[in-house]
Amino acid sequence: MTEKLVKRAYVETYGCQMNISDGELMEGILEHSGYIIVGSPEEADVVLVNTCAIREHAEKRVLGRVSQLNGLKQDKPDLIIGVTGCMAQRIGSTLLDQAPYVDIVMGPDGYRGLPETLRRLGIASADKDEEHAGPVSASASAPSIEVVSESKKRGPQLAVLKLDIDENYQGLEQRRQDGPSAWVPIQRGCDHRCTYCIVPYVRGGEKNRPFDEVLAEVRRLADRGVTEVTLLGQTVNSYQWGDLLFPGLLRLVAQVDGIRRVRFTSPHPRDVNEVLVEVMATEAAVCEQLHLPAQSGNNRTLKRMLRRYTVDMLLEKIDMVRKSIPDIALSTDIIVAFPGETDAEFRDTLDLMRTVRFDEAFTYKYSLRDGTPATRFPERDFIASEEAQTRLAELIELSRQIQGQINSSEVGRVEEVLIEHQGRDPGQVRGRTRRNKVVVFDGDVERVGDYAHALLERTTGATFSGSEVAYSKPEMALV
Ligand code: SAH
Ligand code: SF4
Ligand code: F3S
Repeated sequence: MTEKLVKRAYVETYGCQMNISDGELMEGILEHSGYIIVGSPEEADVVLVNTCAIREHAEKRVLGRVSQLNGLKQDKPDLIIGVTGCMAQRIGSTLLDQAPYVDIVMGPDGYRGLPETLRRLGIASADKDEEHAGPVSASASAPSIEVVSESKKRGPQLAVLKLDIDENYQGLEQRRQDGPSAWVPIQRGCDHRCTYCIVPYVRGGEKNRPFDEVLAEVRRLADRGVTEVTLLGQTVNSYQWGDLLFPGLLRLVAQVDGIRRVRFTSPHPRDVNEVLVEVMATEAAVCEQLHLPAQSGNNRTLKRMLRRYTVDMLLEKIDMVRKSIPDIALSTDIIVAFPGETDAEFRDTLDLMRTVRFDEAFTYKYSLRDGTPATRFPERDFIASEEAQTRLAELIELSRQIQGQINSSEVGRVEEVLIEHQGRDPGQVRGRTRRNKVVVFDGDVERVGDYAHALLERTTGATFSGSEVAYSKPEMALV
């Protein structure tokens, strides 16, 4: 191997956990075909910006970042810039026209073709001679690479944008950072058509991974010392492989030796059922935490969003979960100012927040996404941005107030914490409780990966600070 022929790649990811996991997949594919993964664009021969398209704001941020990278290309003319992920899929080759310095656009089903695409641009890493980044999937075919423009000065611009219903990246594995926790994708794409959402258009329909492959991956992770896994999918609890439904998979994963914590995100409320709740309540490794995106607290809005549940159905599910797991921490996603949402309907969402009292809420202003069904609502339904901002501010205020009250009432508890990182101050560590609450306390960075018990002493409202305490399990009564 000649050192200087080994190429260096840098992957920068935006968006949801699924996209972060895809970023790790791209790193895995590149590493497998001989690239060295580096930690900054300055060190790289290839920079991939892995993008999100969920809201306009997310796209603007990324476009800004891509044009910044063009600055770097002025100093390093051979630098290859690729834009991957959901925004690449959405705007496709238009991006190549708008940003002539971008060499590749590649959607979420194209990553298997990454080494070949780079080879076509005259860049290949030298130390591996494999044709493919890994075993070719039984059904997925090599993605097709389209030459969008050819310039003598710049070389070709390539687009890999075909969605492939068979591509679930079977046989390929992510390059993961060392650490106690890992994200494990079990599903790609989405079969729902929530009328505001771009995901089904940029990621295609739902595709599940074979359960034995998921399990084998979790076992390998456990062998490497990972003790916490989060199963990922856009509607993760609609997972199905043959006769095995999501609750069955969750149980199998929870029972893997060495796995102490299992989480999953994002479940769709429609597929939260008794069987799932039973597994959550009885499998010791499944954490007492559920992210349940409600989106709205008003039936007319939910219907126009095509969420496929009513407020009552949602409340019944939450009741069912809380009956079996009384201490469960619940979080949610809410969209305000969906087209046509009246002020009274928005107030129904505030009522839902007061009724459920979520531990945390991720709140968004509706953002128009071209091509989604909601764009076809009558013009007059679209809500002015100032009004949307006022609603958002009111919702944030309420959800923070509720979060603060819940967390203040938890001060004084002793909770098991998985230490994940060094804290902001030296001599401090940061971790999460089973209920997904962040706790900072004094401890050595060497402790990352350890489980400790912490007394929750103070809360900022959103996170806790505390101190480590000795803890021994209550003795089991001998019969
Ligand atoms: N599959 C997940 C959601 C993924 S997107 C689910 O169904 O729960 C994450 C969140 O972004 C959504 O829950 C929604 O609250 C928000 N979101 C999606 N599209 C949006 C849009 N057009 N405008 C504003 N928020 C949006
Ligand atoms: Fe989007 Fe709805 Fe699918 Fe979630 S379930 S990804 S919100 S279409
Ligand atoms: Fe964004 Fe794509 Fe995730 S649009 S939220 S990165 S699935």
